[in-house]
Amino acid sequence: MENQTKLTVQPENKQGGKGLRKNTATTLMQQKQSGDKITMLTAYDYTTAKIIDECGVNSILIGDSLGMVMMGYENTLPVTMEDMIHHTAAVSRAAEHAFIVADMPFMSYQVSVEEAVFNAGRLVKEGGAHAVKLEGGAQVCDRIRAIVNAAVPVVAHLGLTPQSVNVFGGFKVQGKSFDKAKQLIEDALSIQQAGACAVVLEGIPAELAKIITNKLSIPTIGIGAGNGCDGQVLVYQDMLGLTTGHTAKFVKRFANVGEVMRQGINDYINETKSGDFPAAEHTYAIDDDIINQLIKEYDQVENS
Ligand code: KIV
Repeated sequence: MENQTKLTVQPENKQGGKGLRKNTATTLMQQKQSGDKITMLTAYDYTTAKIIDECGVNSILIGDSLGMVMMGYENTLPVTMEDMIHHTAAVSRAAEHAFIVADMPFMSYQVSVEEAVFNAGRLVKEGGAHAVKLEGGAQVCDRIRAIVNAAVPVVAHLGLTPQSVNVFGGFKVQGKSFDKAKQLIEDALSIQQAGACAVVLEGIPAELAKIITNKLSIPTIGIGAGNGCDGQVLVYQDMLGLTTGHTAKFVKRFANVGEVMRQGINDYINETKSGDFPAAEHTYAIDDDIINQLIKEYDQVENS
């Protein structure tokens, strides 16, 4: 019985592999109730999503910001359902613990309730998303209600909603006047009433975000909305220092990965040109007799 595999019983891990819990709309709600801040980061590809998931981030957002950071568009408006499904599927294949939220791109939910439900369903069926996110307040409540009725959790998005960039006349902080702030509070209550499981608050004054957070029973996830929210979300390229040019005031650079990449790529260029790369340890060997035979056959200078 020497070769018989010894079976060992793994201790049950209620939180899933590597001690990480499976995050859901319910666990995010529990985090709000217990005051445990929710962490959300964007991801758009398998490799990055795997790292983010393994770090234990609660939720991964496949944001339509991919139009800018992955595809080089000026804003999110050209992003299609096909783009979103493609990237959502890559992230879903990587993430084992995070709650996967996929953005509904511009014009995928605005035209009709039916289209909104159909496209939300595609992000779940074809992309593997756990929830969808869409922008707007009272005007999208019928969409939220219908999508939730189709058993797809919805994350709402209020404030500086990027798909309305042409209405706002640029990426401008929202809710600064009394009327606009009141409107945002009313919108937040409406989307909650419609069944949203969480709401992203983007580009609004911190004190206003705090009022909204206190008024809602669902979690608020802020980006440029101060630390009074129930959680935070950032675009990973921004927070890791991969983006160049203008960065918004609310972005904190937690690392300078762009610099590390530049250094590595420059070293690769230099070592390839000098012949230092590849070295012996990066090279596959062949039997000397065989190579000497080949050299003879093909009239090359013999190996010494
Ligand atoms: O598209 C996105 O990445 C987003 C976040 C900025 C919240 O919507």
